Amino acid sequence: MPLVPMRQILDEARKKNYGVGAYNVNNMEQVQAIMAAAKETQSPVIIQASKGALKYSNFTYLKHIMFAAVEENPEIPIAVHLDHGNSLATVKEAIAIGFSSVMIDGSLMEDGKTPSDYAYNVAVTKSVVEYAHKYGVTVEAEIGRLGGIEDGVGSGSIHLTDPKEAEKFVKETGVDALAIAIGTSHGAYKFKGSKELAFDVLKEVRSLIDIPIVLHGASSVPQELIDAVNKYGGKMPGATGVPMESLKKAIQLGVTKINVDTDGRLAITAAIRKVFAETPEKFDPRDYLGPAREALKGVIAGKMKDFGTAGHSGDYKGVSLEEMKAIYK
Ligand code: G3H
Ligand code: 13P
Ligand code: ZN
Repeated sequence: MPLVPMRQILDEARKKNYGVGAYNVNNMEQVQAIMAAAKETQSPVIIQASKGALKYSNFTYLKHIMFAAVEENPEIPIAVHLDHGNSLATVKEAIAIGFSSVMIDGSLMEDGKTPSDYAYNVAVTKSVVEYAHKYGVTVEAEIGRLGGIEDGVGSGSIHLTDPKEAEKFVKETGVDALAIAIGTSHGAYKFKGSKELAFDVLKEVRSLIDIPIVLHGASSVPQELIDAVNKYGGKMPGATGVPMESLKKAIQLGVTKINVDTDGRLAITAAIRKVFAETPEKFDPRDYLGPAREALKGVIAGKMKDFGTAGHSGDYKGVSLEEMKAIYK
């Protein structure tokens, strides 16, 4: 049961009005930390790998680590998701290695940087939906554009979602979940001034479409993590994120999937810096990767509680990808 289509996790969460974090992973310690948090809080979970993460791990290493999580946690519903897929070819690679869910980010061209137009986004998303649904695989797409550039993901300019365009896009593509832009951006420097999100846009989109809504760029960049990074030699002045209260409000207003990468990176970096600063004689990677894993587990478990995911790992009947294929027909 543990590998489930993401659509199922999000549909169950929508029925009960809680959010589900989608946590980015690149290595074994991150996957272990997220799964330990899911187990401790009894939460369904989405683990996601970007194209960059797959490339970093030669695909095969991360694939085996992600599926080790599935094998090790039979009681936790897990969706294994491709984050910011940039083309049908990338999506095909992810599905070939067993992912139960993919994102096609057609808000940008294949280079992951250049803004695209609506027609391109519809065409590439439709081609992915047509391909992925044959395998029972869930498809997330994006309309509007986030700010922030993170290693090739993001155009640097925010373009809030037009709710009417979102409605049209969902009808034209048949996508399962929709990422919208309401003022967040990727990375650790999200706001220069006000941290206000465009909740009016979210409300209108929610009233016009009937599929799960996704919020990217949803790390909170907690001040205590920034302080810890800076205290032990880091340099991250002016880092800001989305306050947890805003995320809770977004969930109430209809966001179901919440993407988090940066906060995990901060937790890991703070913990490793602390070990290096306090015990410079240490050189066994386990002496700093172990504490980093523990710190990440704490941060993710906190989010699972705050998003309302905790306690919901038993909500699932366990629709398999095979059964999902029939649903899509
Ligand atoms: O949305 C972007 C995620 O934070 C992944 O970032 O492309 O550096 O792996 P990455
Ligand atoms: P953050 O940079 O806010 O963690 O966002 C991550 C994200 O949206 C991954 O797709
Ligand atoms: Zn993202």
